[in-house]
Amino acid sequence: MQGLAFGGDYNPEQWPLEVQEEDVRLMREAGVNLVSLGIFAWARMEPRDGVYAFEWLDEVVDRLHASGISVNLGTPTAAPPAWFFRKYPDAFPVTRDGTRIGFGGRETACSSHPGFLAATSRLVGRLAERYGDHPGVVMWHVHNEYGAPLGECYCPASVHAWRDWLRTRYASLDALNEAWGTTFWGQTYGEWAEIDAPRWSHTVVNPAQRLDYARFANHEHLAHYRLQRSLLAGTGKPVTTNFAGTVNCKSMDLWSWAPELDVIANDHYLVAEREDNHIQLAMSADLSRSLAGGGPWMIMEHSTGAVSWQDRGIAKRPGEMRRNSLAHVARGSDSVLFFQWRASRFGAEKFHSAMVPQAGTDSQLWRDVVALGADLRGLAGLRGARVDAPEVAIVWDWESYWALELEWRPSGDLSYLERVEAFYEALWREHVTVDFVHPSADISRYRVVVAPSSYLLADASAKNLQRYVETGGTLLVSYFSGIVDEHDTVHHGAYPGALRDVLGLSVEEFHPLRADQTVTLDRPARIWSERVRLHGAAAVRTFGDGPDAGHPAVTRHALGAGTAWYLATAPHPADLRALLRQVLDGAAVQRPHGLPETLELVRRGGHAFLINHADTPAQVPGITGQDLLTGAPFTGEVPAGGVAVISVGSSPCP
Ligand code: GAL
Repeated sequence: MQGLAFGGDYNPEQWPLEVQEEDVRLMREAGVNLVSLGIFAWARMEPRDGVYAFEWLDEVVDRLHASGISVNLGTPTAAPPAWFFRKYPDAFPVTRDGTRIGFGGRETACSSHPGFLAATSRLVGRLAERYGDHPGVVMWHVHNEYGAPLGECYCPASVHAWRDWLRTRYASLDALNEAWGTTFWGQTYGEWAEIDAPRWSHTVVNPAQRLDYARFANHEHLAHYRLQRSLLAGTGKPVTTNFAGTVNCKSMDLWSWAPELDVIANDHYLVAEREDNHIQLAMSADLSRSLAGGGPWMIMEHSTGAVSWQDRGIAKRPGEMRRNSLAHVARGSDSVLFFQWRASRFGAEKFHSAMVPQAGTDSQLWRDVVALGADLRGLAGLRGARVDAPEVAIVWDWESYWALELEWRPSGDLSYLERVEAFYEALWREHVTVDFVHPSADISRYRVVVAPSSYLLADASAKNLQRYVETGGTLLVSYFSGIVDEHDTVHHGAYPGALRDVLGLSVEEFHPLRADQTVTLDRPARIWSERVRLHGAAAVRTFGDGPDAGHPAVTRHALGAGTAWYLATAPHPADLRALLRQVLDGAAVQRPHGLPETLELVRRGGHAFLINHADTPAQVPGITGQDLLTGAPFTGEVPAGGVAVISVGSSPCP
């Protein structure tokens, strides 16, 4: 394949031959060069147990190949057929409250079930054999969105696998009892067979057990992926699976998945009713790129318009599909792929948008799709280019996300995403592109690292952050960070045990705020207040009122060659911006000045992507060069809702 990949999920099994032939003609018209095929087609590929039918698929792959359209071939394990469940009724997952799910949806088989693993191996082995050498098949798309909606399964096969997993992790019951703190509420185990999954109960179930179950569920899905990867590896073609929206895929620890994928692939859907949903898109894209180690990745699915699974199927605004698509490319994607090519006439997703809508080709949407194809041909040279190395990173850790949001935390308003998004948004509006990092990763190249709500911090991660500061880094930590270790056990001594030394302070008591209560910095702050005591740090701001009036709200600690900042509340966005500016300036972070805050600016491979999210034109002084989208010199103005991609080489920020 040349250039950027353009296309989407393609389900020809839903259509008669004449429509499939029209599909190919239209794909060529739009410039489609890659489709994802067969993702939910197990029942067509293996209509009876052990009876395979690939002729229809051969024809589709050949037809596409003859027209220059490559195939990303799906392994259809997210939708096992009806015969499979008749044979293995116990392969249906069981939910935490004990409900065994039924047939008719998807993600319907338990990843730990031996019958499912065996059926997976047989089918995927056949696919590898039949299509491994086909020149039209350029990559493998394993399963679909692991972890969504099926995260944890509580069936007997899962419990069996869970005990094995625990034996490997802890070796002895003494170690497990210690790690889980089972002396609390008298839960000590004397036999492995006594340990069950952390099912729903009247009251809160042991949080360390829950945390381990989340890890175990991640492990089981990853093992199912690995099994498939091992069967496909011999074909020499890249293997991937589509993440269920990096930011929103809470149930999978994608740091553990990333090394197992030949290319990171992400699905992203806007929360249609959110005005600022393009910022959340940018965050999802930056996390995808970070999982790809800064290299190119693929947007495997997004939508041309409305989705069918939100309360209201809100269509995209004029130009929004284009802005979304080019924002993914700006942030490192080598593809613009959609769910799906042609809108289905039946089934659960018939009201979902597609590249070919129900209205057909005499529609604005189709004309926009064709125009987008032309845009992408103009950007073909960007394939493989890296986004200019960000100077700022945000700590992102799925284990902390899981642990923070278990029950009986000091406030129901504590939310992992809410805090990360608050910092991300402030940085986005400052035109700062960020990477996401695991707290144990090598972070030495960043000028600033932000750790919002890093509630769970293992000792090694805490030491990593400390070393980063001592050797010259600038760390900004927000409240309720460094509180527990990997077993959800509070670090010794006063909060925040893992970060007391690096921050030069301790927290004597938490004072979470009432639902409608605020405290004052310059403007009202929400959610959290706490009594900070300084042990080396200096107070930069104090609370104007509330339970900690007069006590530190923002602190700064000089440590070694670096600086550690701490923020003890959830400030008003304007106050957070002001604080971030101070922190960024202190660390000499480069960023453009004088641009409207609704203008997204990202640099990739010697090009500045300027995406105007406002409905008025944006003036961008100081950037000159050719606009790859128009072929003309850039005039210094990006039209309302428009995009420009300017060749700027290595010239500095305006
Ligand atoms: C994704 C899924 C697709 C399709 C899409 C609709 O989560 O992978 O198959 O259902 O949502 O938005």
